[in-house]
Amino acid sequence: MENARPNWTSRFAFILASVGSAVGLGNIWRFPYIMGQYGGAVFLFVYLAIILTICFIPLVAELAVGKITQKECIGAYESVSPKLKIIGALNPITGILISSFYFVVGGWIINYIVLGFINPSVNDYAQYFTNFTQNPVSTCVYTILFLFICIFFTARGIKKGIEFANNVLMPLFAVILVGLIIFSLNLPNAYQGLEYMFKPDFSKICPQMFLAALGQALFTLSIGMGALLTYGSYIKEDKSITKSAYTIIFSDTLFAIMAGIMIFPAIFSFGLEPNSGAGLVFVTLPHIFSQIPHGNIVAIAFFLLLSAAAITSGISILEASVAAFIERLHLSRMKSSILLFCIVSSIAIPASLSFGVLSSFTIAGRGIFDFLDFATSNLLMPLNTLFLCILAGWFLKIKGKMFINNEFIAKIFDLGLKFIVPIILVFLLYIGLR
Ligand code: TRP
Repeated sequence: MENARPNWTSRFAFILASVGSAVGLGNIWRFPYIMGQYGGAVFLFVYLAIILTICFIPLVAELAVGKITQKECIGAYESVSPKLKIIGALNPITGILISSFYFVVGGWIINYIVLGFINPSVNDYAQYFTNFTQNPVSTCVYTILFLFICIFFTARGIKKGIEFANNVLMPLFAVILVGLIIFSLNLPNAYQGLEYMFKPDFSKICPQMFLAALGQALFTLSIGMGALLTYGSYIKEDKSITKSAYTIIFSDTLFAIMAGIMIFPAIFSFGLEPNSGAGLVFVTLPHIFSQIPHGNIVAIAFFLLLSAAAITSGISILEASVAAFIERLHLSRMKSSILLFCIVSSIAIPASLSFGVLSSFTIAGRGIFDFLDFATSNLLMPLNTLFLCILAGWFLKIKGKMFINNEFIAKIFDLGLKFIVPIILVFLLYIGLR
């Protein structure tokens, strides 16, 4: 029975995999730079408020839909009506599109690990980054290499592949991160970075900040493309989805804050700009590493950490599509993985080239990479989350009291799932499409 549905070996394995899915480039690369763009501590407060309240509902709902239907995302929608298959299919489509830019960034990380080994003396990292992202051969090779590593784990199946990756890579991640935080906090003027992170200036609050925080929260928790739904469908006995959801939110937030404490003191200590955008990690940090004693060792450690986090997230992005292929197309896990590898490569390669040879090719006024990033986080993920809340709340009639003991909180959950979260998402989509 090659295609029999897999199950987690333990509740711990499931939680570790979900945390592994959540903690990734979203925490280490995206969170600090978005926070830097929205002025630091205020954004952190808005983000915390959103991730600890609103996001809990779709997170629990997505896991619950997987667990209750015991199906991958297309099958979960189909269990209500065959017509809804198309809506379910939006999930793997979104996953393929997310993969296609996520793996490009993963490729950059691998390049920086290699760079740390062979060329520790580069001193203009902004220039290096520009040259590298414009070089068609290296960006393609590293993108495919990173995709290959993640597909390798996915092809081996959830027990042999995904659990192993998470059991080994996540603890490694935590250890290296703590080491780098200690290092960063001992830099001169580190307190300025902490002040920037934790002392809010509430005059900077604006509507866009709420939207940016919500978008970041969905991305970082991996909500809205069927990854958690698929992971939830591998749960058999686990009764406490809410506990798992809190563990995911808590650890994801902890990793994001730790990433901030690692990055901001260093930025301030070296007099750099916190709002330098998406290049924050790839331009600013290596520049910092190059100025400190044994910087290349620190750089290698950092980018290894980032690749570990990105691999466990990359696996989760791929798993939703692999599961859909296995169950819909009746392919073996190996064949599904190979098929997905081909599809993702065919989009990821043009995306990786969009900084160089394909830079003049635009979709809706954006380069391929930027378009994929924009279309998934601002449109498809909120849309999928909206459909998921409707599926869970209105069709599958999932109720808070199924998982929550406190009656009052369970009622709020029901209200949130059926009305509050969908309304907020419609509002977000409206803003995104304008
Ligand atoms: N959450 C991951 C991160 O923070 C990325 C990720 C993994 C993801 N699986 C996902 C994002 C599913 C959206 C949907 O890097």
